[in-house]
Amino acid sequence: MNTEAVSPLAWSPDSWGGFPAGQQPVYSDPAALERALAELRQLPPLVTSWEVISLREQLADAAAGRRFVLQGGDCAERFVDCTSTRIANLLKILLQMSLVLVVGAQRPVIRVGRFGGQYAKPRSSNFETRDGIELPAYRGDLINGAEFSAEARAADPGRLLRGYGHAALTLNFIRALVKGGFADLHHPEYFDLDWVSDSPLAHEYHRTVEVIRESLRFMENVLDVRAGETDRIDFFASHEALHLGYEAAQTRHVPRRPGWFNLSTHFPWIGRRTNEAGGAHMEYLRGIENPVGIKVGPGCDRETAKRWLDVLDPRRQPGRLALIHRFGADRIADALPALVEAVRAEGGAPVWICDGMHGNTRVTQDGIRTRRFEDVYSEVEQAFDIHHAMGGRLGGVHFELTGENVTECTGGARGQSQTDLRRAYESDVDPRLNYEQSLELAFLIARKMKQEAC
Ligand code: PEP
Ligand code: CO
Repeated sequence: MNTEAVSPLAWSPDSWGGFPAGQQPVYSDPAALERALAELRQLPPLVTSWEVISLREQLADAAAGRRFVLQGGDCAERFVDCTSTRIANLLKILLQMSLVLVVGAQRPVIRVGRFGGQYAKPRSSNFETRDGIELPAYRGDLINGAEFSAEARAADPGRLLRGYGHAALTLNFIRALVKGGFADLHHPEYFDLDWVSDSPLAHEYHRTVEVIRESLRFMENVLDVRAGETDRIDFFASHEALHLGYEAAQTRHVPRRPGWFNLSTHFPWIGRRTNEAGGAHMEYLRGIENPVGIKVGPGCDRETAKRWLDVLDPRRQPGRLALIHRFGADRIADALPALVEAVRAEGGAPVWICDGMHGNTRVTQDGIRTRRFEDVYSEVEQAFDIHHAMGGRLGGVHFELTGENVTECTGGARGQSQTDLRRAYESDVDPRLNYEQSLELAFLIARKMKQEAC
């Protein structure tokens, strides 16, 4: 890499253009792309710099073990799912999970959605072939359509504006719900716990719910959730910063604050497929004030970890960096300790977040992408143990989940099987935990955290 190009002075929202950029769509009409980006540059921000800074401060607490991060949502948001029911259901499951986690962690939980911009997807192949016909791969609603036709699969710059619009609608509704009392947790009917009767953990679950009810007053103080009384946002937004034109167009200076802010989201992360230290995504991320995440998978060596820290967090600023590790249940024990050591040796103190999903994807004999609940939990459980054994703390968890009753992952208390997968499989990309599986996972993690504290 050209060392001049990594000088902080040389950075601008568009300096990534001088670096190799993976996973970017090819537009047939560059002038139309430029027009869309020019319009995007003029539109108002989706989040504010003070929210971004507040999250960075809270993440600094998480890195120090004083808060815990719950990050979750769809693998890919779809424009068709931008509906009141879907958004409210997602908020509800995240809220319930966070409440359960507060009991286990005995510390405040930072709620971060994969929403309001999670519209672009990295793909392992640029093309998809069906019945001998080859078309560009579906790259998420920000880029093209999922339908298998030449028209739908063409990259359409107008989708960048639609993506911005849908993100705005989503965040607007979430803000209204939170402000309007949705976060009022006094109602036991929020907990649809019918499914626990199927679980060997039923007794424990019911006890946890009782604890939640009894200590609501106390938890309100810790959580800072007071229905209708707070203007402060209670959920943060995050998405993969994949389409660099979209991100750069929403990267702004704000009055009275130094630096550049990505105001399309509070917490952008870069995925495993675009995390090379000399790549365009890293170049973009290094110049913004937001807290940023990097997905880390198998094969990350000491040198890479050092370069990530030097490029993204040269000042080793608390709350600036989250390492979201996703090795898989069968690899985390081998891979994580070396990564933790390498980061510590460089003086890094990131928030460690375990993504229990992306290292545990498998394809069934029928060709259905799925994940086993047991693998997801196993990876998280091992993450707690490894960080604990190394004298640190897991700072958070990251899941692909939905508030809907889908059948995309197997396992959990209801024993969802492979044959169930066809019944309600909706995702065009990765399989998500459904409502019950998500809540069960939160209970298991809460139990684990209680043990860790003993
Ligand atoms: C994702 O979070 O949807 C994703 C693609 O993850 P990763 O980059 O870890 O594979
Ligand atoms: Co995914």
